[in-house]
Amino acid sequence: MHDQAGQSGPGVGYIFSISMVAAIAGLLFGFDTGIIAGALTFISKSMGIAETDTMTKEAVVAAVTLGALFGAMASSKCSDYFGRKKSIIITSLLFTIGTLCIAMAFHVYMVITGRLIMGFAVGLSAMVAPMYISEVSPPNVRGAVVFLFQLAITIGIMLAYIIDYAFEDTGDWRMMFGVGLIPSVLLGLGMIRLPESPRWLVLKGKVQQAEAVLKKLRGDDFQTELEEIRVSVSHPQGGLRDLFTPKLFPLVVITFGLFVFQQVSGVNTIFYYGPELFKEAGFSAPILASVVCGGTNVLASVVGVWVVDRLGRRKLLFMGFIGVIVCLTVLGAAYKGFFGPNIHWLSLAAVLGFIVFFAIGLGGAPYIIMSELFPLTHRSAGMATASCANWGFNMLVSATFLSLVQGLGMGTTFWLYAACSVGGLIFTIFLVPETKGRPLEEIEANLYAGKKSRHLGDPVEDGL
Ligand code: BGC
Repeated sequence: MHDQAGQSGPGVGYIFSISMVAAIAGLLFGFDTGIIAGALTFISKSMGIAETDTMTKEAVVAAVTLGALFGAMASSKCSDYFGRKKSIIITSLLFTIGTLCIAMAFHVYMVITGRLIMGFAVGLSAMVAPMYISEVSPPNVRGAVVFLFQLAITIGIMLAYIIDYAFEDTGDWRMMFGVGLIPSVLLGLGMIRLPESPRWLVLKGKVQQAEAVLKKLRGDDFQTELEEIRVSVSHPQGGLRDLFTPKLFPLVVITFGLFVFQQVSGVNTIFYYGPELFKEAGFSAPILASVVCGGTNVLASVVGVWVVDRLGRRKLLFMGFIGVIVCLTVLGAAYKGFFGPNIHWLSLAAVLGFIVFFAIGLGGAPYIIMSELFPLTHRSAGMATASCANWGFNMLVSATFLSLVQGLGMGTTFWLYAACSVGGLIFTIFLVPETKGRPLEEIEANLYAGKKSRHLGDPVEDGL
């Protein structure tokens, strides 16, 4: 086995530019989940949704998450059948159709249908884009380039806040959504020019094409990598059912679990209900406070891209969980009145701290690790399963937040998320391997050599 950990190679700049194009899918993910916050009031007015008709409003909001869950389910078949590149082009088409459907809607059902299509694209791309990026990158920058996807999500959320704000005066919700057409089209046009994943090409027996792509990506030093990919493909191929075998099931537990813990940290209650939280804490400009949160999320994600291949995945997760636990505990205590009645600055500081630790520690790592752990023959099935946890628990947390607040109060609800994050920390300590700098095929060789999942990222011993 060769060690590519130190490779900076002729293609690293090219790898970053390829990854940035694929990461536009992340920008659309953030934009399409975020834009509704400012648009909902205007949609309701123009479509004649009654103030009290919360069910229709909830359907408009939740359709994206539901669509994303379906998209995650379909992502395995789609990425295996059409390939990674074409699947991302398909998402760009779906983003475009969904956006047009909403922007031209003459009935609320058209808005909901558009949101479902958009959601499907979000769910599909949230699995395929990290997979594509991971499969084209060399190991020494793989963490950073997959993290670009997370960074793009945060830029998308921020962009959505800005666009909401820009069109607030005119109330032009069609334009709010319409802006999303620009990145949708750019994603499709950009992807057409990019190479297919060499790993998918070998999986489909297109070895000569894979060779040409690897040469482009790595320069002349690609033969060993190609050989390792061919070894990966020689393992029996299979689907979803194999994920429940003793060899693969621990990987499902790790990747599925990481997304569960990412979501039950309560991150999206802050992004979806931010203005309400700040209103309750006594802020007179809650939307502005949300914009500050969005900006912090972007900046912290830039730090994440920078440190993930230096510190590794485990250290980032430890730091992330510990920070998130502290911030949620303080936030809960503030809402419970432990620090007196004037809590707006304290609550803003705790929320910002939460966002920083989440963005650096918990935001990117689950996407990176899910794209690294599964062997090539079962990567799509494994990643699709993990993605279902992402969207299923996203839905669960956002749908139960208001009821939890009503039943337990804001303070206890945040303490509950803190307790869940303690679970995430323990889970990481005992189960999550360090994959920093390790070629995907070495992780796989460790798996087939019978190493425990916690040690899949260790150096491969001689003779494997
Ligand atoms: C999560 C999303 C979240 C976003 C916030 C992502 O890693 O999967 O649910 O909205 O981070 O930046």
